[in-house]
Amino acid sequence: MQKLKAALASSLAEEIKAIAPDSAIASEELYDMLEYPPDAKMGDLALPCFKLSRTLRMAPPAIAAKLAEGFGAGEYATVDTAGGYLNFTINPAYLTGTVLGEILEKKENYGKSDIGAGKEVVLDYSSPNVAKPFHIGHLGTTVIGHSLKLLHEFRGYHCTGINYLGDWGTQFGKLIAAYRMWGSKEAVEERGIDELVDLYVRVNNEISGNEEKGIAPNTALADEARNEFRKMEQGDEENLALWKWFIEISLKEYEKTYSQLGITFDSYKGESFYTDKMPAQVELLREKGLLKLDDGASIVDLEAYKMPPCLILKRDGSTLYPTRDIAAAVYRKNTYNFDKAIYVTSAGQSLHFAQWFKVVELMGYDWHDQLVHVPYGTVSINGAKLATRTGNVILLKDLFGMAIEKVADIMNEKNPNLENKDAVAEAVGVGAIIFYYLSNNRIKDINFMLEDALSFEGNTGPYAQYTYARTCSILERAGSVEMPAADALKTDEELNLLKVLSQFSERVDNALKDYEPSTVTRFILDVCAAFNSFYHECPILSSEDENTKAARVALTAATNYVLGSALHLICIKTPEKI
Ligand code: ARG
Repeated sequence: MQKLKAALASSLAEEIKAIAPDSAIASEELYDMLEYPPDAKMGDLALPCFKLSRTLRMAPPAIAAKLAEGFGAGEYATVDTAGGYLNFTINPAYLTGTVLGEILEKKENYGKSDIGAGKEVVLDYSSPNVAKPFHIGHLGTTVIGHSLKLLHEFRGYHCTGINYLGDWGTQFGKLIAAYRMWGSKEAVEERGIDELVDLYVRVNNEISGNEEKGIAPNTALADEARNEFRKMEQGDEENLALWKWFIEISLKEYEKTYSQLGITFDSYKGESFYTDKMPAQVELLREKGLLKLDDGASIVDLEAYKMPPCLILKRDGSTLYPTRDIAAAVYRKNTYNFDKAIYVTSAGQSLHFAQWFKVVELMGYDWHDQLVHVPYGTVSINGAKLATRTGNVILLKDLFGMAIEKVADIMNEKNPNLENKDAVAEAVGVGAIIFYYLSNNRIKDINFMLEDALSFEGNTGPYAQYTYARTCSILERAGSVEMPAADALKTDEELNLLKVLSQFSERVDNALKDYEPSTVTRFILDVCAAFNSFYHECPILSSEDENTKAARVALTAATNYVLGSALHLICIKTPEKI
C-alpha cells in the first residue's frame, strides 16, 4: 500500500500545483495525510482536505470536489467525495496485478526493505540474573527484544543481539554459602538450575528471617555470604570455579527456553566482563568534575535534570549497576560502532536508564542520543502477582511447560494421528504464550489468563497458527501456484484480503517507529480475519471455474507468505499441520 499511497500523493501534489501554483504542497506531506477510513463504504484510502484549506484558501468540500474532478491516477484507484473528504477506492486490477504479483514474486521477502543497510543496531535483551529464577517477568524482555531484532533485520540493519547476563554480584556469595551448607555436586548436576534457585531462595529466606513466624534474620549467614563474594572479587580460585560452574548450569537451562523460542544471541558478555573496564570510566567522570561525594559514596548529581543522583561508587569503593552499564555502552560503541543501541527491560528500570543515559551525555560522548530504552509493563498470571525473593514465582519454563501440556491434550483429542506431535505441541503452546503477551501494547500491565491464551478460538496464537496451517493444507492439495489474470479476483472478501496483505510493510514500519511488536500481532489478526472470511465465502479448490480457482489458490499462497513472515517477526513458529 505504501507504493500506491506514494503514487496517489504525487499525483495529488501535481494537481494542487496546477490549481494553486503559488502554494505547492509536498507529496510527502500528502502521503502522511492519507488515512485508512474506519468504514469500507468510505473507500480504501481517504484524504481529509481540512488541512489544505488555509493554504489553498478554499473550503474543504470545494477542494475535494476540485481535486476529484482532475484526478489522474485512474490506473490505481477511482475517487469520490464526501464533504471535505476525498475517498479513493483501489482498482481490483491494481490489487491483483500489482499487489498479488509482487507478493508471489518476492515470496517470504515481501515487505522487506534495505533502508537500514550499512547501519548497526545492538540490542541488549533477556539478560537474566544467573542463579536467580528466570521467571515470567523475563518473557517481555526476551520476546520484545528478539522481535525488535528481527524487525530491524527485516529493514536491512545489521543487528547484534546481546545477552547481558547478570553474572556478577552478591547473589553469588549467597549461593556459594548456601551450596557449601546445604548443597551437593550430585544435586546440582541432577536438578540443574532448579537446585540453584532453591538454594538461593532458601539462603535469602534464612538471611532475612520471618517476622510473622518469629524467626530472626541470620546476620552471621549474611556476613558469610558477603565474605564469599569478597573472596570472588579477590580472585579466590575455588569460589571462581564454583561461580563458573553455576553459570554453565544456568546457561544450559536458558538455552532450552531460547531454543523453544527460536532465539539465539550473538554475544553472552555479561556483567562480569566489564569489571576491568569500569575504572577508566570512573576516572573520566572524575576528570570531568562530574563525581561528587555524598556520605562517602560517589555520585553524579542530576538535580538539574530533575532526577535523583546516579550512583557510581559505594562507600567501600565498589561499583554499581549504572557504573557497569556505562562501561558496557562505551565498550559496545568501540566494538560495534553502533548507530543505535536498544535496551529492553521492565518499566521499573526506566529511571536507571534515564539516569545513566544522562551521565553518558554529560561525559561528552556524542553518541548518547543513539541509546534507546524500551520499557514494558508488569506480568501477572491469572491475577496473581509475582514475588521474586520468596520462592513464590512462576518460572518461564514452567509456564511454557503448562501451555505445551494443555495444547498436547487438545491435539490428542482433535487430531490424534498428527505427525511430530511433540514438536507441534511445543510450537503451538509456546506460540500461544508469545502471541497473548504480544497482543497488548508493551507498556501495559498484563494479566495472563492461561485458558484464554490457549484457546483455538478468539484472537489467539493457536488461531493464527491454525490459519497458517490451513493455507498450507490448501496449497498442498492445490499443487502449483500461478499468477492469475488481473480481473480474476472480484468479490469483496478477495479484494479485502489483498488490501490487508498490501499493508504489511507499512505495519512493520509502524512497529519499528514505536518499538512495538504488538503492531505486527494486530496485523496478523487482521490477515487471519480477512483470510477466514474469504475462506468461508469463496470456495477455493471446489470453485467451478478454473480461472477463479487458480486466482484463489494464488491468493492463498500470498496469504501463506505474508502470514508466515509476520509470525516469524514475533518469534512464533509456523507448523504446516496442527
Ligand atoms: N539483569 C538485569 C535484570 O534482570 C537486566 C539487564 C538489562 N540490561 C542492562 N544493560 N542493564 O534486571
